[in-house]
Amino acid sequence: MKSSKLSWLLVAILSIIVLVFTYKFTVGEVKPSDDGRLAVQLSKDERNAVLLEMRTWLQNSQAMLAAVSSQDFATAANIAKSSGMAAEAATPGSLFRKIPLEMKKLGFDTRQKFDEIAVDAEKLKDTQHTIKQISTAMNNCVACHANYRFVEAAK
Ligand code: HEC
Repeated sequence: MKSSKLSWLLVAILSIIVLVFTYKFTVGEVKPSDDGRLAVQLSKDERNAVLLEMRTWLQNSQAMLAAVSSQDFATAANIAKSSGMAAEAATPGSLFRKIPLEMKKLGFDTRQKFDEIAVDAEKLKDTQHTIKQISTAMNNCVACHANYRFVEAAK
């Protein structure tokens, strides 16, 4: 009797811990921003790391367009791949907890779209198709920037 009560107590405690983690993972570390967006609270290093990643995305988007416009599908595919899911491994784990779920989804979807661009560029070698895919992927850039900011958390 006693030990079964103890097990239920343990189950209850563990469930609460799981719920708290799930909640944190879903909501992330955000505060309303005075420009109407949500401000994701990061450390200085995390913010610098994601902004560097962002500049790489912009650079790669331009470089992909330049490559397909001169029918260089191999280069376009390589660049797209370097912005795809494989690059996610470089993202610090601490960021994962702070970024809200909706934002994580947009980020992953963008990486997956870059992977699709890479596969199709190599397979189809179709300029119009690749340009259309880049344009669709860049809707994610617009959507995310409209809703979120990265700010350095007050210590
Ligand atoms: C999942 C969300 C998300 C996606 C998707 C996203 N960004 Fe960003 N990006 C941000 C946030 C948040 C900032 C910071 C904006 C701020 O604080 O005002 C940012 C900032 C930037 C910056 C400024 C970097 C700097 O040094 O200040 C560039 C450039 C940029 N993004 C490019 C892109 C491009 C290009 C894409 C698409 C290929 C993209 N981003 C997709 C969230 C995203």
